[in-house]
Amino acid sequence: MEPWIAPSILAADFARLGQEVDDVVAAGADAIHFDVMDNHYVPNLSVGPLVLGSLRKHGVTAPVDVHLMVKPVDALIVAFTEAGADIVSFHPEASEHPHRSLGLIRERGAKAGLVFNPGTSIALLEPLVDAVDLVLIMSVNPGFGGQAFIPSSLDKVQAARDAIDASGGNIRLEIDGGIKVDNIADAAAAGADTFVAGSAIFGVPAGAGSRVDDYRSVIKAMRDELAAPA
Ligand code: DX5
Ligand code: ZN
Repeated sequence: MEPWIAPSILAADFARLGQEVDDVVAAGADAIHFDVMDNHYVPNLSVGPLVLGSLRKHGVTAPVDVHLMVKPVDALIVAFTEAGADIVSFHPEASEHPHRSLGLIRERGAKAGLVFNPGTSIALLEPLVDAVDLVLIMSVNPGFGGQAFIPSSLDKVQAARDAIDASGGNIRLEIDGGIKVDNIADAAAAGADTFVAGSAIFGVPAGAGSRVDDYRSVIKAMRDELAAPA
């Protein structure tokens, strides 16, 4: 699977969100990671389907990877697929019937993702693996950007990689939380192919050029790490 770098809009400047998304896409982002928080499943509040619809109207055509940190999930699956999500992921603890919720995402024409918290066993994946297109391993506890990477999540990535390979499915393996230039290669070595980065990209200090130049330099440094022999 081609490695994807997916900047998380959580770290973007929301007053200039359309421009921020245009800039990271121009800088080489493969997808936009769209973090949705409800102040119920996680103790923070972010943005809803209206904002995704506005980005589409603004002209964003890049794949949008919606990460639902909400409970319950089904109504928002419908709202976000309607608003233009390409991938919708949710936490199995937040759905009474995760298999049904995964099916609902696919029925609505999007790719279906399942998210594993640091405290959630990957064993949950096995009975659901045929219903998923993406597995997302959280390398922080969900709810906030800018947290420190939890090193033991690499073992979880490795276990997910083994389960995906055993299934033979065409499934992306994404890692989210605390990903930077200096640890992205470790995540890749553990088996991840899709890398979310919020503060590492949008938080890069301004250089002499444009924001596109700033973002491009981080994304390029990440790609160089991914290309370097382990
Ligand atoms: C955490 C979110 C992450 C996070 C990534 O709840 O799901 O996507 O914002 O941000 P950084 O890269 O800053 O950890
Ligand atoms: Zn996320």
